[in-house]
Amino acid sequence: MRIIDVPASTPYQVHLGTRLLEQAGQLVRTAAGGTKAALITDSNVGPLYAPIVERSLKEAGYETCTFTFAAGEEHKRADTLVDALEFLAAHELDRGDVVVALGGGVTGDMGGLAAALYMRGIALAQMPTSLLAMVDSSVGGKTAIDLASGKNLAGAFWQPRVVIADIGCLGTLTPEQFADGCGEIVKHAVIRDPALFAELELTPPTYELLCGPGGVSRMEAIVARNVEIKRDVVAGDEREAGGRKLLNFGHSIGHAVEACGQYRLGHGNCVAVGMCLMARAAIAQGACAPEFLPRLERLLSACGLATRTDFTVDELYRCALHDKKRAGATIDLVIPHDLGSCDIERASLDGFRALIAQALDSQNAEEDAC
Ligand SMILES: NC(=O)c1ccc[n+]([C@@H]2O[C@H](COP(=O)([O-])OP(=O)(O)OC[C@H]3O[C@@H](n4cnc5c(N)ncnc54)[C@H](O)[C@@H]3O)[C@@H](O)[C@H]2O)c1
Ligand SMILES: [Zn+2]
Repeated sequence: MRIIDVPASTPYQVHLGTRLLEQAGQLVRTAAGGTKAALITDSNVGPLYAPIVERSLKEAGYETCTFTFAAGEEHKRADTLVDALEFLAAHELDRGDVVVALGGGVTGDMGGLAAALYMRGIALAQMPTSLLAMVDSSVGGKTAIDLASGKNLAGAFWQPRVVIADIGCLGTLTPEQFADGCGEIVKHAVIRDPALFAELELTPPTYELLCGPGGVSRMEAIVARNVEIKRDVVAGDEREAGGRKLLNFGHSIGHAVEACGQYRLGHGNCVAVGMCLMARAAIAQGACAPEFLPRLERLLSACGLATRTDFTVDELYRCALHDKKRAGATIDLVIPHDLGSCDIERASLDGFRALIAQALDSQNAEEDAC
């Protein structure tokens, strides 16, 4: 097992390893105390893992109750959140008790927000079960639900008391769900860790790798490095006033791709496309080393992720504007210069549109040439 310290405003530890859910109760007790533990999970993860966690929590002396909601981003919304809060009240949790969010990023975001709101905030333990949740959403303290007007529009910063990531859970993801989590892994390597990028090129993180000999320990090492990168980028900018925005690499265009496709293409795939388009635009502007793009595309493809889009500049810009409309006339973009070297640059919306156009021109010219 590995333990990673996260020095947030309220510091906590990330525990990483196999067969951790069996020991989760004791880890939660040490980090959060309390009498009752309310498990929040979704309809896919609950049947697989809730009984193990409930047993472990009981062994650690907790009274437990479990709230299960229908899986899927479309349920990360206000009525599910209110149901979860009513559930906590009906089971008479009080300020000293703990919410355990067991699942992917949707569960972590929703359960985390329930913990932040209930009685003005009770202890939270994150137990991420998807690759995306392990390497990204369970660390950093952001929680949210979606509103009809847009994703993640209502939320809170609420730090967990502990994060428990059982790598064994990755085995029940589909290969597609696994691949989707790799978008953020490649992003982390690009913004912070050229050595990790080179390692991933040699042994791309895939579902096949996980299931092969030594795969679990290799994935554990990759997840651990990603948690450290996320921790380090978030450190000192917990509320995203500056440096944390580096984590948005590929996301401005990525979110537009996601919205244009009505959220049918997974987040990691959309971020992958967004990163490639940003690299293309930066290369066209002479701001990025040209050899960066083929390496990025090769690695993303090896992970099973998309690198191109058929959407037009008008479609992408319209969706990007919708995503943006609450934040003024400029947009902060993460410009890649090379592996491990990215900058945050403020652009006008016209400048952003021109950048998308430049990126698509580059992509489409290459396709024509093929
Ligand atoms: N808070 C943050 O900092 C942050 C960062 C990135 C993403 N997010 C949010 O995370 C969400 C995406 O996360 P996600 O991709 O994990 O989505 P998700 O929670 O919907 O999980 C994807 C699917 O995998 C299933 N699943 C999860 N773990 C499983 C397992 N071990 N075995 C079998 N099935 C499993 C889920 O039930 C779901 O159907 C989005 O809502 C996004 O906004 C938040
Ligand atoms: Zn993301």
